[in-house]
Amino acid sequence: MCGIFGYKGKGDAVAILTKWLQRLEYRGYDSAGVCVVNDDNVMYRERAVGKVAELSSKLQQHKDRSYTRGIAHTRWATHGGVTESNTHPHQSNDGKRTIVHNGIVENYSKLKKELEKKWYEFHSETDTEVVANLLQEHYDSNTANMLETAQILQKLIRWAYALLIMHSDHPDEMIAIRLWSPLVYATNTAWEQFFSSDTQALAGYAQQMTYLEDGDLLHIQGDTYTIYANGEVTKRNIEDFDQEALEASKGDYKHFMLKEIYEQPVTVKRTMQWRVNFDTMSLHADTFHGMGNEDYKKIVTVACGTMHHVWWLWTYRLQNLAWVPAYAEIGSEYENKPFFVDPSVLHMFLSQSGETADTLETLKMVKEQWGKTLGIVNVVWSSIARETDNGLYVRAGTEIGVASTKAFITPSVLMLLTSLFLGKRRGMRLTKYQQIMRELQHLPAYIETVLDQSDHIRSIAMDLIQYEDFFFLGRGYQYPIAAENSLKFKEITYLHSEAYAAGELKHGSLALIDEKFPTIYNLPHDEMYEANLSNFQEIKARKGKICVIWDKRVEEADRQITIPETIDEIYPFLTAVAGQLLAYHVADLLWNDIDKPRNLAKSVTVK
Ligand code: M6R
Repeated sequence: MCGIFGYKGKGDAVAILTKWLQRLEYRGYDSAGVCVVNDDNVMYRERAVGKVAELSSKLQQHKDRSYTRGIAHTRWATHGGVTESNTHPHQSNDGKRTIVHNGIVENYSKLKKELEKKWYEFHSETDTEVVANLLQEHYDSNTANMLETAQILQKLIRWAYALLIMHSDHPDEMIAIRLWSPLVYATNTAWEQFFSSDTQALAGYAQQMTYLEDGDLLHIQGDTYTIYANGEVTKRNIEDFDQEALEASKGDYKHFMLKEIYEQPVTVKRTMQWRVNFDTMSLHADTFHGMGNEDYKKIVTVACGTMHHVWWLWTYRLQNLAWVPAYAEIGSEYENKPFFVDPSVLHMFLSQSGETADTLETLKMVKEQWGKTLGIVNVVWSSIARETDNGLYVRAGTEIGVASTKAFITPSVLMLLTSLFLGKRRGMRLTKYQQIMRELQHLPAYIETVLDQSDHIRSIAMDLIQYEDFFFLGRGYQYPIAAENSLKFKEITYLHSEAYAAGELKHGSLALIDEKFPTIYNLPHDEMYEANLSNFQEIKARKGKICVIWDKRVEEADRQITIPETIDEIYPFLTAVAGQLLAYHVADLLWNDIDKPRNLAKSVTVK
């Protein structure tokens, strides 16, 4: 989703800003732009639709490299189509203020109408251009105070935003404001100052950083800066910046997604490392910080997309293994129904990026009611990590592919560990506990076995590309996995797929089954196997084609992906990895842009 960057120093602003735009390309965007200024206050703005490479080639034609400050943006269209005129940076009518913006100004259309009455003209359909003109409208030329105008702006616009503002009459100043959209300010000993919506862009440049909080305004004047909260000068923590430069590399893999699928045996080991001692079959209690101290009567989990499927699977396990009532809620929906927060309820938030707006907003609502919160995130120090009372890091490593793979499997493993942790405290049978621990130890090897079938899965994919509609079925633990496999499939293949609880098919959707509507059926030999077989026969009787993912061969299936034989709690990881490979190969055979699927973004920071 949108990325914003700011630079002020002595270096080549065009080169630095372009580098950051490239680093964050994987997050998904549809256009990009920069605006830079040199020491003589000459301004240069360039914008382009498409990849950062399009913008770079325009920038290369402009030979002047004297620019030492500027702002840049990658846009993921919300207000208005993907056009150059809608691409950031945007300027006020008099051309003096230039801004970049992440988020959505919800009351922009009312504000725009008021400005139109005052003869302001608009050259884009964006909410951001309204903000640029509001800055012009409220700038008092007598006091000529850029800070004051930005403070007025904060009172006028309704969230969410992270904004960077430059003003040509104030060449040595720059202003950043944020409310609910991530923004970090960073510095180094060379007196360079940086802003970014994602710390990864700054690796190798920044030495110290400050996370701005909701409502903060940061004002740069020369080499110094001041932070204001509610109009008052305030201080924020300054932290050492210790991220290593991440120059993402696909290695020998054709796509990041494939690389990340293959990384899973290692990331699973990393997630378990320190938390599990397989020699003593024990869990390190202190690594489950915030989970076990209290007897929660109920756990509510909140997340979006793939992460919701992690929770969904976990609620089954938690209820089975630890007898804690648990409810998996979708981030964008939970806020739409009245919910009650009391001390016996734990709200848990899961997010790979830690910045998903729908999840973050619900978290803030729970906190407003003094609810207890726990975060599970992959990106260290992301907003959800900082906002929750306690938390666990997933340790999946950076995930570049928009379609989550290792960021699904690793939190799923982590959550199985938490079920064991809570289950043990609540009287779980020792034999069950030991059985799961033993199989968890073999999990990396089991995943390797599924990965070894990649060529076979590709041959199945060759057959499947002739179809346009698919069902993904599962029961019990396999139902959330069917949902996850279906999401992955539609996300990168652009083919229609629907996930169903296998037993639910006969209550209506079976009507769609014929020889042109194949089913991908998660059918391991778990507790649900017998019940599944009757649904299997119902589909066959209607000439439906079935590709099964299972551990024991059954002759009637049209296509089979075989996974290792294990136990009910471990099968979901294996059927999920098989589903990832299936989606990947179908998408690859269809020549789709797998790492950056159309219309999608890696980090969804708007509602
Ligand atoms: O960053 P998050 O984990 O909070 O993202 C949530 C979803 O947007 C994300 O899982 C999405 O569904 C994936 N692209 C699916 O592969």
